[in-house]
Amino acid sequence: MTTRRLRADSRGIAEAAVALRAGRLVAFPTETVYGLGGLATNPLAIAQVFAAKGRPSHNPLILHVAAVSQAASFAVLDARARQLAAAFWPGPLTLVLPLAEGADIAPAATAGLDTVAVRVPRHPVARALLEAVAGPVAAPSANRSGQVSPTTADHVLADLDGLIDIVLDAGPVEVGIESTVLDLSGPAMRILRPGGVTREAIEAVIGRLADGEAGAGEPLRSPGLLDRHYAPRTPLRLDAVAVAADEALLAFGPAPLPGAAVTLNLSPSGDLAEAAHNLYAMLRALDDVGARRIAVMALPRTGLGEALADRLRRAATP
Ligand code: TXA
Ligand code: MG
Repeated sequence: MTTRRLRADSRGIAEAAVALRAGRLVAFPTETVYGLGGLATNPLAIAQVFAAKGRPSHNPLILHVAAVSQAASFAVLDARARQLAAAFWPGPLTLVLPLAEGADIAPAATAGLDTVAVRVPRHPVARALLEAVAGPVAAPSANRSGQVSPTTADHVLADLDGLIDIVLDAGPVEVGIESTVLDLSGPAMRILRPGGVTREAIEAVIGRLADGEAGAGEPLRSPGLLDRHYAPRTPLRLDAVAVAADEALLAFGPAPLPGAAVTLNLSPSGDLAEAAHNLYAMLRALDDVGARRIAVMALPRTGLGEALADRLRRAATP
């Protein structure tokens, strides 16, 4: 298959919507990262999403919709879910909800679970595409499983050229790290994956969340949260306070450590949103310089720092 790169104008979006409805795969920009879309009601399309990504079948997908009303056709939204949707949709928050009885969703999309992850993205291209498709689009990040998530159409093609029909190119995305996945399927509200909406912002709307991810001994609530993920090939060394001459440096703040072979700075001004925006592209770039290791300076752990720390910890897991 030849993958077509289409400009994300109204013509490109219309063509992409036709392809999705026909069961073909389309990578498209969301505000977080590029997604690898397949129509969630079509079992063959969903099988192809898993195959193109090389994703294990036990790891369920996020369903993307244009509006809350559409989510309600296959997921059960309680008062908490409606309050959070009103506050954060469209935007980078994914809610894990009970799957509605008789929902027309390919079972493979939810990995056969009785819960479903859903979000309404705010990127204008994603919104226009979802409105045109008028059905739920399953979209994991548009990278091969375990690799660094794509924030540009070039990143998508580096991993998936020839495996998908279309990539809609709208340039670099805004947020740069994936959505926050919040479990609302039971009484305890828990962040399964920190991301583009901070814990602090969610708690300001809904009150205190349960602590942390599922701990040791508890069942893995988010089957995709394998420890190693988002990983470049070059080993990472976190919280560096000094750098060796054969290391590359991923710096943060106004005083990057001296002495690295190559340095990229996530945010010279120390801004966490800018750091999130730059993280994956800089990891990819440093992965290509042939350094023995990538040293990473410490970042604050509050706000978006929680998601950044999570991605860096996973990328550093051997
Ligand atoms: O920002 C994002 O969320 C991007 C863009 C494209 O929207 N998508 C994304 O999808 O990051 P993916 O497939 O790479 O990550 C989905 C995460 C995985 O950790 C998966 O295990 C979790 O959501 N997930 C999906 N359905 C779930 C469910 N029913 N219960 C618990 N976790 C679920
Ligand atoms: Mg992913």
